[in-house]
Amino acid sequence: MNIVVVGSGYVGLVTGCCLAEAGNRVVCVDHDERKVATLKGGKLPFHEPGLQDILRAQLDTGRLTFETRIARAMQNVDVVFLAVGTPPLADGNANLENLFRVVQELADTAFEDCVVVIKSTVPVGTGDRIEQLLNDAQNRRPGEPRLHVVSNPEFLAEGRAVQDFRHPDRIVVGTDDAEAAAVLAKLYEPFVTHDHCLMMMDRRSAELAKYACNAMLAARISVVNELAGIAGTLGADVAQICRVLKGDPRIGSHYLNPGVGYGGSCLPKDLNALVHAAQAAGEPAELLRSVQSVNLRQRERLLEAIINHFHGRLEGRRIAVWGLSFKPGTDDVRAAPSLTLITRLTALGAEVHAYDPVAADSARDALSEAGVTQWHPEHSALAACRNADALVVMTEWDEFREVDFEQLAACMPGRMVFDGRGLYDSARLQKHGFAHFHLGMRPGPSLADPAPTGTALRGERDARSNGRS
Ligand SMILES: NC(=O)c1ccc[n+]([C@@H]2O[C@H](COP(=O)([O-])OP(=O)(O)OC[C@H]3O[C@@H](n4cnc5c(N)ncnc54)[C@H](O)[C@@H]3O)[C@@H](O)[C@H]2O)c1
Repeated sequence: MNIVVVGSGYVGLVTGCCLAEAGNRVVCVDHDERKVATLKGGKLPFHEPGLQDILRAQLDTGRLTFETRIARAMQNVDVVFLAVGTPPLADGNANLENLFRVVQELADTAFEDCVVVIKSTVPVGTGDRIEQLLNDAQNRRPGEPRLHVVSNPEFLAEGRAVQDFRHPDRIVVGTDDAEAAAVLAKLYEPFVTHDHCLMMMDRRSAELAKYACNAMLAARISVVNELAGIAGTLGADVAQICRVLKGDPRIGSHYLNPGVGYGGSCLPKDLNALVHAAQAAGEPAELLRSVQSVNLRQRERLLEAIINHFHGRLEGRRIAVWGLSFKPGTDDVRAAPSLTLITRLTALGAEVHAYDPVAADSARDALSEAGVTQWHPEHSALAACRNADALVVMTEWDEFREVDFEQLAACMPGRMVFDGRGLYDSARLQKHGFAHFHLGMRPGPSLADPAPTGTALRGERDARSNGRS
């Protein structure tokens, strides 16, 4: 088939590359000229494992091309995917400005009969509006066929997006039009992994299904985070609680690790948009609002623990931060808890040295856009910890799991680890003289009584005073 994908971000580019790999001719359109030039040169503008090879291979076959204008791509097209960003507005609602700009560009372009597919995550009813707008425009040109707009929300996860696209758990297609449904079924045929993979439904249900999935994932994270707090206060070990939860097949094992909370470009914004839409329709969305507040509280808990540890005096304290991306496997820092932490720590006068295997550049851009420039990206985990008063772990990259604590202890005078992702075992850290704070701990006024930077004594004392972790 001939495919156009508008928006060459994490979703659009993966879609375009994988559909080209399946034998389709694909034109990816993005209005960002620099991004398109990078892609034409076979380079990725962001980090996504496995995607670079597919991009290069498909550019070589000639099946994959890039354009900056929709009008130049719309010839003999069977399917147009809309995969532009739908970021949050200040009030929490989804910002559909980019999407409707694209729709207007499409409406202004003459093209043959094709199926328009919304891949972006959009509020319920957006498909109705887009179909109406496009058909009103088509009607102005007599003889042009009626267009069908299909909702086909994307469920890929950054960091394993290629694998998710090639072997999806489910492909959701929302349309009442049999012909449009048949076109999508044919296009996705090579990706159907099991009998119940392709889920056909009405368009509004498909639109809501995407929000429902993210609401459920966010809820699991907030439930386990709330349980972590309760466990700490009641003197139980949340790691043991999680083992028991994960052993129940009705509950399952995913998204059940206590930590600093969810971030990223999807969960926070989609939950916000869902709550906003629900309330606008008269539904209180009480539980979902609690999920949001528990998530925000997790960040505050970690920050409070750091502030308490230093008795509220962070000026001149050197803090190492491990992990900037909102999760491992990606350089995406949108709504990443690390950005909030760095912003707050630097505002309190701390000297932040941060390391991430791939996300330093995107963090630098995002932080400088927010006016935060007083932090230091480092080239290695160890370099970030040199002369540090404390280490804060914000992303569970694999390389942070296997740490040589002996080496760390030798370069880091402040033997304190704030473990925002629950990576470490307290007893193991204590063996190396480190005190350990994690989010399943009993809240307390102060974790330790730090002496000025550089005293070996402090590390030892911290370790002793944190035996309760
Ligand atoms: N990132 C994910 O993991 C993920 C997963 C599932 C669904 N989604 C949803 O998919 C959509 C896209 O997300 P993303 O992460 O790929 O976004 P992104 O920001 O990475 O990419 C969006 C792209 O659209 C381009 N764009 C914006 N306006 C344009 C216009 N008028 N014309 C042409 N190009 C334009 C931008 O330049 C950018 O390259 C969002 O609605 C998101 O919620 C994202």
